[in-house]
Amino acid sequence: MSLIELIGVKKLYSMGESEVKALNGVDLSIQQGEFLSIVGPSGSGKSTLLNMIGCIDTPTSGKVLLEGKDISSLGDRELTRTRLRKIGFVFQQFYLLPTLTTLENVELPMKEARVPHAQRRARAEELLSHVSLSNRAGHYPNQLSGGEQQRVAIARALANRPHLILADEPTGEVDSQTTDRIVSLLRDLHSEQGITVIIVTHDLKIADSTDRLVSLNDGRIESDVSHVRTDRGPEPVQSLVEHHKDGPEMITGKDGGGPDMVTGRDENETNRGQD
Ligand SMILES: Nc1ncnc2c1ncn2[C@@H]1O[C@H](COP(=O)(O)OP(=O)(O)OP(=O)(O)O)[C@@H](O)[C@H]1O
Ligand SMILES: [Mg+2]
Repeated sequence: MSLIELIGVKKLYSMGESEVKALNGVDLSIQQGEFLSIVGPSGSGKSTLLNMIGCIDTPTSGKVLLEGKDISSLGDRELTRTRLRKIGFVFQQFYLLPTLTTLENVELPMKEARVPHAQRRARAEELLSHVSLSNRAGHYPNQLSGGEQQRVAIARALANRPHLILADEPTGEVDSQTTDRIVSLLRDLHSEQGITVIIVTHDLKIADSTDRLVSLNDGRIESDVSHVRTDRGPEPVQSLVEHHKDGPEMITGKDGGGPDMVTGRDENETNRGQD
């Protein structure tokens, strides 16, 4: 069974008289543990596609299946839970919250998932050291360079130990050294932990270094090429869609009650929920 399957997915936007076909009939199947890139000209539908895969957006027509389950049949609660705990997003605009420090930005998704304070702080510190930003923990986003902000966004995406990472131009405007660092970080996650990684990029060097390259044009898949690989990653991690709570996760507490990771709204501040 595929981790993600898109069947005849269309996304149309009506703009007054005219209609934009952001996605115009996409069929795509992605297996657990893939390391895949999506390329295509600006406006070809890459971010729209990523949003479908990440259940941030729903198609106008067609189906999106997560582990064989139609996402339109999953309740909001379950979708939110899946998004928050199983999927790590690195958005094209980093969406770091300007009023939070580097460390607090990385902590935020864990706070939303009700991870106890000490635990999430320790994990945020570990993640920042992973992206070589321990010395910027107290900085606010506007005190960071573009590349540093991107690395904070990656650290944040990893916070809840996602099974799927969706990265939209994670190396957008950084130098080649930082690019290499970001890509090798994602590759390590993939090969060491079996995490499925999907990168949208304009950088053909990055695209070539992934195992599969999907090209979009005008909302359609133009080509889909797999490279042979010999270094199979570890066996798949747990299920993406989680139907039973209180599993052996690091995360504790109720689901669905916290603020949304996507909007970053924080209406439900809580430090409770010790294990
Ligand atoms: N909310 C919206 N309303 C109307 N049109 C939209 C909307 N979002 C995206 N589009 C249009 O859909 C098309 C695909 O957009 P998308 O953001 O997926 O492109 P992209 O491939 O990610 O481009 P880029 O490389 O510039 O980031 C574009 O033509 C865009 O103008
Ligand atoms: Mg885009």
